[in-house]
Amino acid sequence: SLVGELFGLTDLAEQLQRRLGIPEVIVVQGDADESPWVKEELGRVGARVLKQVVQEGDIVAVTGGSSIASIASHLTPSATFKTVQFVPARGGLGERVELQANTLASTMAARTGATYRLLHVPDRLHPEALQTLLKEPQVQDVLSLLGQSRIVLHGIGDAITMAKRRNYSDEELSELVNSGAVSEAFGYYFNEAGETVQRMPTIGLQLEEVHKAEAVLSIAGGKSKAKAILSFAKQSCQNVLITDEGAAKSLLSTR
Ligand code: BG6
Repeated sequence: SLVGELFGLTDLAEQLQRRLGIPEVIVVQGDADESPWVKEELGRVGARVLKQVVQEGDIVAVTGGSSIASIASHLTPSATFKTVQFVPARGGLGERVELQANTLASTMAARTGATYRLLHVPDRLHPEALQTLLKEPQVQDVLSLLGQSRIVLHGIGDAITMAKRRNYSDEELSELVNSGAVSEAFGYYFNEAGETVQRMPTIGLQLEEVHKAEAVLSIAGGKSKAKAILSFAKQSCQNVLITDEGAAKSLLSTR
């Protein structure tokens, strides 16, 4: 494929494409768990792919996380981007501010000349608070924009790593382990078969909306994410996976 020839390790990418059933896979050299420059490379490639895929008037939903953050730092302005809106896929998900979807949406807009929206919804809400916030016109506005996303740009996390990053209690952690969760994306936790086993109580992009988007670009690297990448691929909604050698080799060696 054209994209594959432009960047990365084509043999591994083709094997992964077949194994995961994802139309386009790009594999960069190295392992993001071991060297920080690999995450930079994932970001550089992610930024180039986004630039190729983006069209006039697009709404681009973005999640938080360090992988998406590295895309943000590699984006550059274009005439097309000036007509684009970056919208955070979720409210706060207990991430550090630098890694929150809100921050990344605004950074991406600043770097490209696009506009952005913010979703002011805290992490892990009580049901009543959630219902109240859902009635806010500002929140409804952003949710309706999210529903029109043509592009979704997201990270994939190892379920337990993400839960720890979100300060789950020991009890909540063992509940998650018992549910069989292996991957996390958009605040949803999935098991090995790709079924949703838990959801974060927050507001944002729904899984159904991810499935409706025309271009779903996933960025995740590092050996530690191999199982998570395999689990999320069962969603069969991704058009492009950008990953690294560490994750790819480990993934291909699991049954
Ligand atoms: C979070 C997203 O911010 O980043 C998650 O909400 C995602 O959906 C995670 O799984 C991945 O983070 P990172 O830092 O490993 O790219």
